[in-house]
Amino acid sequence: MNVLELKDFNAYYGNKKIINNLNMAIKRNKITAIIGPSGCGKSTLLLSLNRMLEEVEGRTEGQILFNGKNIYSISKEEIRRRIGIVFQKPTPFPFSIYKNLTYAPIYYGVRDKKRLDEIAKGKLIISGLYEEVKDEIHASALKLSGGQQQRLCIARALTVEPEVLLLDEPCSALDIKNTANIEKMLLNLAKDYTIVIVTHNLSQAKRISDYTAFMLDGELIEYDETHRIFSFPKDKRTKEYIEGIYG
Ligand SMILES: Nc1ncnc2c1ncn2[C@@H]1O[C@H](COP(=O)(O)OP(=O)(O)O)[C@@H](O)[C@H]1O
Ligand SMILES: [Mg+2]
Repeated sequence: MNVLELKDFNAYYGNKKIINNLNMAIKRNKITAIIGPSGCGKSTLLLSLNRMLEEVEGRTEGQILFNGKNIYSISKEEIRRRIGIVFQKPTPFPFSIYKNLTYAPIYYGVRDKKRLDEIAKGKLIISGLYEEVKDEIHASALKLSGGQQQRLCIARALTVEPEVLLLDEPCSALDIKNTANIEKMLLNLAKDYTIVIVTHNLSQAKRISDYTAFMLDGELIEYDETHRIFSFPKDKRTKEYIEGIYG
């Protein structure tokens, strides 16, 4: 079963239609990239998937199914635990690295110190941060570099064991080396999670994603395996975008 499925999906801010009649199925344990020019609705689409859109006064029509179930039949808290989101700007809490990683587990009732230590360590390992920070996990997360902070935010999102991880341009504030670290991490995570990443970096989409969706003016123009989108785009507009003619 597809982990997420959008059916005749529309999204609005006020009366302005932002996403128009989108149909799309997101495959489990794959990396799906969403590309398209600025303002075409990529972030709106991502926010729709875990019901964050209603926090910014957006509204929707049509259906989004999560494991076959309408996301509006699942509570906001539950859907956001199971579908995590990370934004462009790293936003660690102004606490220690350890507290960033144990905050949500404690909120959800984990009390055992050993279990909390295991969660923190496990998520640092899969985020590739463990070796870098193991001697200072009680130091402030704000002391980390931007790239480390972003990896910590991804690690933090994983502490509640989501099924899906949404990433909105997670590398656009980072240099090449930090971007490479995040890409390595995401490729590693795809074994256990479904990843949907919005990126304006086409080579990034090409490097890490299995599927690519190209959006333009709120419409899904083309959606296919990444190598097909980049080698044999069917739509002229996709071809123009990946060749850099606009956007
Ligand atoms: N909170 C909001 N209220 C009203 N309009 C918005 C809001 N957020 C985004 N928009 C508008 O929705 C359109 C799509 O925005 P967005 O989803 O952020 O595009 P992208 O992520 O592809 O750049 C743009 O025209 C943008 O100005
Ligand atoms: Mg955006």
